[in-house]
Amino acid sequence: MQIYREKDYDALSRRAASIIAGEIIHNPACVLGLATGSSPEGAYRYLVDWYKKGFVSFKDVRSVNLDEYVGLAPDHDQSYRYFMQSNLFDHVDILPEHTRVPDGLTRDPGAFCAEYDAYIRSLGYVDMQLLGIGRNGHIGFNEPDDHFVKETHVVDLAESTIDANSRFFATRDDVPKQAISMGIGAIMGAKKVLLVASGEEKADAVYHSVCGSITPKCPGSILQLHKNVVLVADEAALSKLTAAGVEV
Ligand code: GLP
Repeated sequence: MQIYREKDYDALSRRAASIIAGEIIHNPACVLGLATGSSPEGAYRYLVDWYKKGFVSFKDVRSVNLDEYVGLAPDHDQSYRYFMQSNLFDHVDILPEHTRVPDGLTRDPGAFCAEYDAYIRSLGYVDMQLLGIGRNGHIGFNEPDDHFVKETHVVDLAESTIDANSRFFATRDDVPKQAISMGIGAIMGAKKVLLVASGEEKADAVYHSVCGSITPKCPGSILQLHKNVVLVADEAALSKLTAAGVEV
């Protein structure tokens, strides 16, 4: 795993954006696996800026997103479709039909999840998968469990995830209890993985993902088995690794 240690959130966002822009410039018709949350938000701001300056174009890029809350409509301001539109898609030249975010309103989750995986396979899998990480080590919405789930699936969110994400909702009760998440199979099938992490509260998850036991109790730990992972993190998120003497 290659690790970039950046001094703060802005620096890590710029670094992550430059890696994504490099992928697009190298392969204009690439398939990007995209993530939501606070971690990639800054990278999207840089990408929008660079698009406006003419440095990068998304016109042939295809994207598949990691996850979506069950029960939220695309125009709900906390849905991940809304996040992607407002943070990236509405500001760049990506074609709407080239973007996919799981459908939180699907009436047939089983069929929907199978189709989502079939679509990812039809694209030849993802070229670069952007990931944040949950405080509990989740990637996408693959929560700590006693096994890894390979396929796109419906997940019961962990109480700790509901707590963490309640900051975005009026009350904790408003946080959806389930989500649709890409499985570990599609994430590990990506040719490259770009993991971004910021802040002290991610330090444990980062430590266990980089050098803990490989276990579904910390889903991010599976990334140790992927041969092309780049971690871009600030000093706070790397603090447990550096305290343990791991060279970053
Ligand atoms: C969310 C998302 C993940 C994200 C993680 C961390 O619940 N499902 O894709 O990586 O939790 O979020 P944040 O970057 O806001 O800390």
